[in-house]
Amino acid sequence: MLQDKVILSLKERQNQGYLSGEEISRCLKVSRAGIWKYIQELRREGYDIVAVPHLGYRLVSSPDKLLPGEIRYGLGTRYLGREIIYEDTVDSTMEVAFRLGMKGAREGTLVCAEGQSKGKGRLGRRWHSPKGKGIYISILLRPPLSPANVAQLTLLAAVAVCEAVRKVGCLCAGIKWPNDILVNNRKVAGILTELSAEMDRVRFVVVGIGVNVNTPLSALPPTATSLKEETGRKVSRVQLLQEILRFLELWYETLKGEGFAPVVQRWKELSLTLGRRVRVSDPSGQIEGEAVDLDEVGGLLIRDDRGMVARKTAGDVIHLR
Ligand code: BTN
Repeated sequence: MLQDKVILSLKERQNQGYLSGEEISRCLKVSRAGIWKYIQELRREGYDIVAVPHLGYRLVSSPDKLLPGEIRYGLGTRYLGREIIYEDTVDSTMEVAFRLGMKGAREGTLVCAEGQSKGKGRLGRRWHSPKGKGIYISILLRPPLSPANVAQLTLLAAVAVCEAVRKVGCLCAGIKWPNDILVNNRKVAGILTELSAEMDRVRFVVVGIGVNVNTPLSALPPTATSLKEETGRKVSRVQLLQEILRFLELWYETLKGEGFAPVVQRWKELSLTLGRRVRVSDPSGQIEGEAVDLDEVGGLLIRDDRGMVARKTAGDVIHLR
């Protein structure tokens, strides 16, 4: 999009003075009047751009929004987040991404919203999505996996999000099985995976990621927290989103090239569940015991007090002590 290209040119010049209208117009092959129109649009979106006669334009500051031009700047991924659908408020980014998947949108397409009115969590729960505070994204993938193996992507996404959260400064972030990201025992991020498949073939998968970034505790359920609350400082949503996309692409490529074993290995290193006493509930009932291992396909192994080992592939975990 040309508007994105204008902002990219201004960002590249940001610390070295002005960029003349003539220069942008020549590079982007758009008239100077056209450039002026884009500058006005960017200002309406919240960019502070000064214009000085005979010198040109200078970007003073960018809005605290997850605008495509912000996400793409310096991103460096090959395909994740190259195509971005940005919305102010949607019901759920899952629905938008699913519709795009049905229409044949390409792998790596990112749907990103500032807020959601019907954010969906796992197990039919709601995901609190106050506007401008968190990251609410859905990513479309077309993995070479059978439907039975799609759960691998959920654990993979947990690894990527946990690494991204650590990279922006929350060093003690870890994973509660299967894919909750916790900091100081409270949830900061969650992952929801939905798929469209035939009996033995995946058409596409939508990986939904929600992160409580600068969300006040008053806007969250009692078991949740946000990165701002835990670090005591505001965290850049753009920077965190870029890290999530980079780690996700890296681990997705690892999965495609080397299989699931390296993902399991990293998941175990980041796990807060293994070695803990847990209670796991799923539709077949409840089990309590020690979480002893993750098997090679991502199932959780729990040893109960009689020494019997059970395997869970879905459900909800409570860390007991
Ligand atoms: C969970 O329950 O832990 C999963 C939460 C997933 C929330 C994200 S926010 C972006 C995407 N859109 C949704 O409606 N849900 C996911």
